[in-house]
Amino acid sequence: MASFVIRGGRVLQGEIRASGAKNSILPIMAASLLTRRECIIRDTPDLRDVGTMSRILTSVGAKVWVGTDAASGQRYLRILPDGLNTYEIPAELMAEMRSSIVLMGALLGRLGKVRVCRPGGCSIGTRPINFHLRGFEMLGARIRAEHGYIDAETTGLIGREMHLDFPSVTTTENLMMAAVFAEGTTVIKNAAKEPEIVDLQNFLNAMGARIVGAGLDTIRIVGTRTLGGVDHAVIPDRIEVGTYLVAGAITGGDVTVQNVVPEHLEAVTAKLGEAGAVLDVGRDHIRIRPGTRLRAVDFKTLPYPGFPTDMQPQAMAMACFAHGTSLITENIFDQRFAHADELMRMGASIEVGNRLAVVRGGGRLTGARVKATDLRAGAALVLAGLGAEGTTVVDPCYHIERGYERMEEKLRAVGASITKVNG
Ligand code: EPZ
Repeated sequence: MASFVIRGGRVLQGEIRASGAKNSILPIMAASLLTRRECIIRDTPDLRDVGTMSRILTSVGAKVWVGTDAASGQRYLRILPDGLNTYEIPAELMAEMRSSIVLMGALLGRLGKVRVCRPGGCSIGTRPINFHLRGFEMLGARIRAEHGYIDAETTGLIGREMHLDFPSVTTTENLMMAAVFAEGTTVIKNAAKEPEIVDLQNFLNAMGARIVGAGLDTIRIVGTRTLGGVDHAVIPDRIEVGTYLVAGAITGGDVTVQNVVPEHLEAVTAKLGEAGAVLDVGRDHIRIRPGTRLRAVDFKTLPYPGFPTDMQPQAMAMACFAHGTSLITENIFDQRFAHADELMRMGASIEVGNRLAVVRGGGRLTGARVKATDLRAGAALVLAGLGAEGTTVVDPCYHIERGYERMEEKLRAVGASITKVNG
């Protein structure tokens, strides 16, 4: 398995372009199965998860091509979903990527039937899918779970009002997709409000769906009969943007991230400012420069627009270099502190409870061989390596490449010493 090898101590300087959002393109690729017409998805990030989702779409009979736009140089996907020939998602592909759960809503909507294997937990928690299944049942689907598989089937979904126990992101996305062909109107209350939900609404409406309210607590979907094709560019990846801003903060550098929707990460930029960094926020870019030395700040992860859980590991890495004690509360997932052990191998002083981590920052971190347990933890360890003395080996980089496009190239372009080494 390949690793990233980072030599710390370099001050980053320059510009990084953020890619299209992983957590936007994955549900949007699934949503392409709701039509028989061609879908073009632009600014497609070159990620392992996009490759996995492409293989899943192909496995159910869709055709997927990757192209590069001559004018912009950006990658795009061309999906032709008219040849669906099965309702079952291959178990090995489901196991590779939990977020393939978003295919349930699309296939239930398009075919009235879907079979998935129950996605396992992962390193950030148990990841149940009870909200998804209850939502499908409320729309009239019959759910059967046995032998590790889940079957959902319907002769026709009926729209109705439902209230989510928690503003679950992929549950909201799944129910939006399942409801586009339901009879009548579906109302999702306590819906997730992430920007990726708005992007999915815009994609579906461009196909002819009738959805309003994404980004707010209540989303309304008026059922329709068919959907057309679409040409859509996904929003920038707000978590990738935040990750590279933290890289600038940790190294005391001067980094400008391009291709940004600043309002998508206001909770993150507010915390960086509170920690003493100087931020210049433009229309489509954010520049971070050193202000005072990094101060300890507290973080509480919350559903959007609160501080994103997908930035919690990166925040913990930054807290290791900040002067003072930071309290980090993880309110979304029940086991998302695995990266703390690895940071402690680099000399960090962290006490971890069930939902609270206490980071005593300001000490020096030294490079070490550390384990990437998931993509955001892996990214956090790369960030820690940038600020540590000596050499850090983050292994495997596989997880990081699931959600970060060419991270080593982007960081090298602003002066980092980072190489990918095949082990
Ligand atoms: C999405 O996961 C993202 N993934 C995650 O990003 C992100 O961390 C998460 O939302 C929270 O923002 C994609 O969009 C592909 P949830 P999702 O359902 O939808 C519990 C990354 O690093 N829950 O909002 O799976 C769940 O256990 C990934 O890019 C249930 O109890 O997250 C968690 O505690 C990691 N039952 C909470 O809700 C359910 O049926 C929020 O989960 C569903 C969820």
